[in-house]
Amino acid sequence: MKNPIIKIEGITKKFGIKNALEEIDLSIYEGEFFAIVGPSGCGKTTLLRVLAGFEVPDSGLLFIDGENMRSIPPNRRPLNIVFQSYALFPHMTVLDNIAFGLKVTGVPIKECYQRVKMLLKLVKLSGLDHRFPHQLSGGQLQRVALARALVKRPKVLLLDEPLSALDAKLRNEMRQELVRLQKSMGITFILVTHDQQEALSTADRIAVMNNGRIKQVASPTNLYESPSNKFVAGFIGSINLIKCEVRQIEGELCAVTTGLTKDLFSIKGKNEISVGQSYLMGVRPEKIQLTKLTDIDQYDNKLAGIINNITYLGRSSMYHVKVSGDENIVMNVSMSHSDRSENIDLCIGESVLMHWTAGSALLLEDHDS
Ligand SMILES: Nc1ncnc2c1ncn2[C@@H]1O[C@H](COP(=O)(O)OP(=O)(O)OP(=O)(O)O)[C@@H](O)[C@H]1O
Ligand SMILES: [Mg+2]
Repeated sequence: MKNPIIKIEGITKKFGIKNALEEIDLSIYEGEFFAIVGPSGCGKTTLLRVLAGFEVPDSGLLFIDGENMRSIPPNRRPLNIVFQSYALFPHMTVLDNIAFGLKVTGVPIKECYQRVKMLLKLVKLSGLDHRFPHQLSGGQLQRVALARALVKRPKVLLLDEPLSALDAKLRNEMRQELVRLQKSMGITFILVTHDQQEALSTADRIAVMNNGRIKQVASPTNLYESPSNKFVAGFIGSINLIKCEVRQIEGELCAVTTGLTKDLFSIKGKNEISVGQSYLMGVRPEKIQLTKLTDIDQYDNKLAGIINNITYLGRSSMYHVKVSGDENIVMNVSMSHSDRSENIDLCIGESVLMHWTAGSALLLEDHDS
């Protein structure tokens, strides 16, 4: 593997008694598109500010490109940052806004403008050089802010919620733009967002944070298909969780009981489980099939219930099903309208059977460690 461009070892940062960052260990590699996600207040911005040198950690080490950053001030770190508020100079044109950072470092004017023109082309703003910020749309302003951060060719670009001010459609377009820019320039991007979809659709790897800690680092597919704990399973996508106990282990599969029915459920096991241990059985809404309550013997993993509510979501609908046996458990089942077989015309109040395969269920620890 390539050398890490960023290496964080045991970084902790306290504000008063609040631990904003706790024992963060993380390596980010050259040319990666890395995303940091987590709920509001979990420490994402603080982590970026530590990388940029605006916050000094209480303990731990930070290396950028192999160099210890302990005594390196923000302006001498090989990175740049794009904030949510674009922070452009209102009295300067697009061209001058982008060129400003280069000019002050002493790059000759001619070269400055050449580099700016090239970047304007890359961020698809050619022709708008002489406009002022108030003459641009939100998406165009964001592109100017990106170009300004990239013109100095930093090794790493830090992006703190850069798309949150944009509407859903523009946001989606800008995500694709970010990926295209990152791949074409080969610069390491670190994108902070609280939007899991944004992280899943852009990043090579994602770190999920909660309460100042990193809960898991993995590729989008691995985070979604094999979350290592309850928090990640619920934060990346949604998941139904049911308490269960392991009764039998047979090769790759284990059989669990839930107390909801007399049936056993089979789940693809993981290492280090033993008979008698309590876990959570997790099943994603789209992995569950719904049928009318007939033929119940043909399925292995099944729960009967009654449709409590249906949420229409355009491309799919979410069925909220009250589990027979425990009124308090409501399972969410997502069904895409194109996949719906013709015999399925389910209404609120109808009795249904939910079933899924062993491979689509997850066994998760019942504590949030
Ligand atoms: N300068 C500060 N002084 C005191 N507390 C702070 C300071 N900066 C951040 N905090 C606290 O540290 C915690 C982490 O804040 P941070 O801004 O890193 O969260 P975040 O994950 O970026 O959240 P958001 O998604 O809302 O931007 C929060 O509890 C916040 O209130
Ligand atoms: Mg923040």
